[in-house]
Amino acid sequence: MRLELNKSSFKDVKQNCAGSIVKSQIRDAFQECRRQTLVLLDKINSEIFYYQAHANFSPIGWHLGHIAFTESLWLLERSASQKCLFPQYRKLYTADGLPKSQRVELPSIEETRYYLDTVREKVLDYLEVTDITATEKLWFFLLQHESQHCETISLIWELIKTQFPTSHSPLSIPHPPIPQEMIKIPAGEFLMGSDEIDALDNEMSEHSVYLDTYSIDRYPVTCRDFRDFIQVGGYKNIQYWSDAGWSWLHSENIKKTKPLYWHDDVAWDNHPVCGVSYYEAEAYAKFVGKRLPTEAEWEKAARWDIKSNSDRKYPWGAAEPTTEYCNCAGNSTGNSAGNIYKPQTTPVNAYPQGQSAYGMYDALGNVWEWTSSWFDGYPGFEHYPYVGYSQVYFDGEHRVLKGGSWATRIWAMRSSFRNWYYPHVREIFAGFRCVRD
Ligand code: AVJ
Ligand code: FE
Repeated sequence: MRLELNKSSFKDVKQNCAGSIVKSQIRDAFQECRRQTLVLLDKINSEIFYYQAHANFSPIGWHLGHIAFTESLWLLERSASQKCLFPQYRKLYTADGLPKSQRVELPSIEETRYYLDTVREKVLDYLEVTDITATEKLWFFLLQHESQHCETISLIWELIKTQFPTSHSPLSIPHPPIPQEMIKIPAGEFLMGSDEIDALDNEMSEHSVYLDTYSIDRYPVTCRDFRDFIQVGGYKNIQYWSDAGWSWLHSENIKKTKPLYWHDDVAWDNHPVCGVSYYEAEAYAKFVGKRLPTEAEWEKAARWDIKSNSDRKYPWGAAEPTTEYCNCAGNSTGNSAGNIYKPQTTPVNAYPQGQSAYGMYDALGNVWEWTSSWFDGYPGFEHYPYVGYSQVYFDGEHRVLKGGSWATRIWAMRSSFRNWYYPHVREIFAGFRCVRD
């Protein structure tokens, strides 16, 4: 009897320990993520804070308030059953509240900072008392929510730079071009998706997928390679474009003759092309006699280890992303290959440690990569935490992007992570690589 009692209380202690380890990891991650957010906020003056750089993107100031609102809604109101601290902000910051054009009348930078800080203080208090086994997934969701909105802040910043161009200081001396190579991926099954605690609803559940043999580019398409397409008049030649692509090219008043984030400087030659719509990626692939990968083709090349017939969370293995492995957001140190992190793209061969088991470089970080797959739920899809997170975008109008960019934080980067946009969107940090049967 006594023995048994001891045994069960030992089990409780063990569980509590595990719970408090999880809690301290979540606390550290929340604090690091917010530190990075405040670094962004520090660079922003009030002119930029309210400025709507593009009709499809709310001002930076809105994103910051929406981060606080979402954290407060899910953790304080819905999970902790607390009363809303700032009911006056609900209509403004709720995702389905106001049209983007009406999101320009915003609280001041100071008020927004107070909102972020006040909510966060309560959230960290709640972390101390929550039953973490019941709420763990929500914390990972919110970490990724803040990360994703901060990537949007980074792209708005970049968009503003294209509207008010300043001369870009040359990056480095030109290097010899990195020739594209293709990797053969033999036919067979692999595991796609994820059931881990950080998996978002659209990544669940892990499931087996069979693919025939194909070959995939070792590197994302570089600016050097894309320049060929521009120079031979790729933007003027209908034969490379799909019908939808050609009509996008000729829509609106903006003349599209090069990628949005294009630098006319050979110093960028070995960097991935960035700021292309799906249509431009598709046209380039046709130009070189290839096609864009399906999401499954991209994911298999990024995560499957054929030698051990097993799966890797990240292309290089299980270790969390750092500057050793990829060009992602938030790292400020150099890696052993001598790369000093800058908040921009890097040459596509800069991270040899980060290659996948098949030898694919730059799968995570640097630029998002367009795939030819429409965004949809996996078998048995269940929405979490709300229908509007993923499910409303299962409309056959959004394409999947994989891999993350230089502006993606580590919590939103893994081989199974799925991003999605309309094919005409080119304001995001998107490039691509190609495949062939
Ligand atoms: C997955 C990046 C397209 O920002 O629109 C943020 C992520 N969803 N808040 C977006 C998201 C709700 C989403 N993307
Ligand atoms: Fe959001």
